[in-house]
Amino acid sequence: MKEKIEQLKMRIAEELQSAGDSETVEKIRVAYLGKKGSVTELLKGLKELSGEEKKEAGQQINALKKYAEEHISARIAQIKAEELQRQVDSAEEYDVTLPSRNVQGSYHPITLVQRQVEEIFASMGFTIEDYFEIVDDYHCFEALNIPKHHPARDMQDTYYLDNGQLLKTHTSAAQNAIMKKYGAPLRAIFPGRCFRNESTDACHENTFFQMEGMMIDKDISISNLIYFMKTMLSHVFQQDINVRLRPGFFPFVEPGFELDISCLICGGEGCPSCKNSGWLELCPCGMIHPNVLKAGGIDPEEYTGFAFGLGLTRLAMMKYGVKDIRDLNSGNLKALSQFVHE
Ligand code: DAH
Repeated sequence: MKEKIEQLKMRIAEELQSAGDSETVEKIRVAYLGKKGSVTELLKGLKELSGEEKKEAGQQINALKKYAEEHISARIAQIKAEELQRQVDSAEEYDVTLPSRNVQGSYHPITLVQRQVEEIFASMGFTIEDYFEIVDDYHCFEALNIPKHHPARDMQDTYYLDNGQLLKTHTSAAQNAIMKKYGAPLRAIFPGRCFRNESTDACHENTFFQMEGMMIDKDISISNLIYFMKTMLSHVFQQDINVRLRPGFFPFVEPGFELDISCLICGGEGCPSCKNSGWLELCPCGMIHPNVLKAGGIDPEEYTGFAFGLGLTRLAMMKYGVKDIRDLNSGNLKALSQFVHE
């Protein structure tokens, strides 16, 4: 028996050595370890032996089995490594550090403007905050001086969950949490996806992006608001932008404004794009209402601040000349891939 086992061992070693691919190794495995393989047959033959003999032979055959299994897996690993090496060697000039020659895709236009706005505000000391898309009534409305049954809620119908939570209608929903997180003084911007129950058309979508900003400190005034908005917009549009404020009503600011920018197409002369007024409406804003500061744990006697709610989707449409807002959420690569790579 001992001799037979030694012979088998040698044969296995030889055959594995000369096997050049994984299929041949598999054949060897079946020939020795398969149901009718030589090693298996030896094990089956054990039942004819008796007592001591059986024990000794059993140990030897099991050792042979282990030997065969280990050598087979080692040979397979070796063959795989050799195959890989052959592939690498045969590839012509293969430099894994080279950038792909065929770059597909680009950032979404909204991501592009979002990053530009973030960059300029970050350079002016603003932190960039993230916030939930699912919020509660308190954060979306109550904390913003919009109590239940306030008519301002009519403009912001949204999608409600069974548990009373809702998809946020504006990034202002994060104001309260951010005030509580940092206290005053505070400079923060917070981009986010917003939702409203809207019928969609070329100018309306049920899902869109805003970029909210807040600056709270001692003696903050409307001049600060105008300065920051002008600086940010001139950076985004890469030209000097004139702004003007018109009164606008939002319960969470007092006074509240609509901020217009001078028309980019006619430079303020008046053209069809700006309905001949020379101005384009861009960003609602205002001085944060004392009730909102109070709800955020900030003393309105000591601190004042401004807030703005920039329509990021709108900004992207203006910057990249997108005519139909629905293209932006469509996932239609043909429509989206026409925008600049930056
Ligand atoms: N949250 C408002 C909206 O979506 C926009 C807004 C207006 C935000 C005035 C502000 C603000 O921060 O001061 O309609």
